[in-house]
Amino acid sequence: MKILVTGGAGFIGSHTVVALQQNGFETVIVDNLSNAQDTVIQALEKIVKKKLTFHQGDCNDAAFLSEVFKQHTIEGVIHFAAYKAVGESVKSPLKYYQNNLNSLMTLLQQMEASQTRNLVFSSSCTVYGQPDQLPVTEDSPIKLATSPYGNTKQVCEEIISDCIAAHMPIKALVLRYFNPIGAHASALIGELPIGVPNNLIPYVTQTAAGIRKELSIFGDDYETPDGTCIRDYIHVMDLAQAHVKALQFLQARSVASFYDTVNIGTGEGKSVMEVVKAFIKTTQVALHYTIAERRAGDIEQIYANADKAKRLLGWEAKHSLEEALGDAWRWQQQLEKKKS
Ligand code: UFG
Repeated sequence: MKILVTGGAGFIGSHTVVALQQNGFETVIVDNLSNAQDTVIQALEKIVKKKLTFHQGDCNDAAFLSEVFKQHTIEGVIHFAAYKAVGESVKSPLKYYQNNLNSLMTLLQQMEASQTRNLVFSSSCTVYGQPDQLPVTEDSPIKLATSPYGNTKQVCEEIISDCIAAHMPIKALVLRYFNPIGAHASALIGELPIGVPNNLIPYVTQTAAGIRKELSIFGDDYETPDGTCIRDYIHVMDLAQAHVKALQFLQARSVASFYDTVNIGTGEGKSVMEVVKAFIKTTQVALHYTIAERRAGDIEQIYANADKAKRLLGWEAKHSLEEALGDAWRWQQQLEKKKS
């Protein structure tokens, strides 16, 4: 089965390419390299030990996508390509709406034209906002988005479900990711934030590597056991494997159209302080940190009820937080080695 992986040079996309290749899928990678480097493709080729198909281009470009669909018999699509920085989306909402919504619509049109049936869409637990009940299930109400980025994920979900309600012959699974962290065990691919990282783990590893002076823990006065925010941190290779399972599930479903949403998390909530302590214990590296003000827009706590992923897809997270932190740290060290 040949799978088009949009955003395949990005953090989750690249790890998913590895998982797909290792599970017998062929891949066609599309990426405009706006937030990734082409060296990722070479690193991927090293891991999977073969030449990979890569087309540099933009999913908003219908002519480009149409050419890709003409060149390859695509049977399934995983749509990762999107902007993903929450803060930037608040400052530049149009950039986010234009890119994230338009690229999905262009892709759906191309899928329809080429009769491509299977779609896995990258969504986020951000669609739940601060849930009323934890762990959060897929049936929890969708809250008003707290950022244009979050809103693009909600609207993209609606676009797909509306198309399917209108009998577009597509089978779609929307995966709502919790917090992806870690890196491939080879340390050849990992997360590559541009500039100062917004996310916790790259900030932690860069601080441990001496690139940043200290980590600011955003708030210790939340209504949580240690006062810091709680998230569900999932190893990116577990997340990658969930995409393999999602495609296998869709492939096996002999219906004309289908739509469902699935949480992809570990089911376990960890506080920022627990993550910091686990990092120090696992890596034995000193980490300077300080308690800072709450970050605007942060929700207090969220973690997944991941039962549906197990029931529907036969998937569950296998890696521990410690493994993920160890892999993230090895990846950071590898980056430092390359610099020197
Ligand atoms: N944090 C710090 N210091 C930092 C960075 C983060 O204390 O320097 C804290 C945050 O306040 C939060 C936790 O670490 O409590 C996790 O923050 P991240 O920025 O790593 O992740 P978020 O949960 O804020 O956001 C992630 C993705 C979004 C996605 C969202 C869904 O980055 O794309 O999950 O909830 F929308």
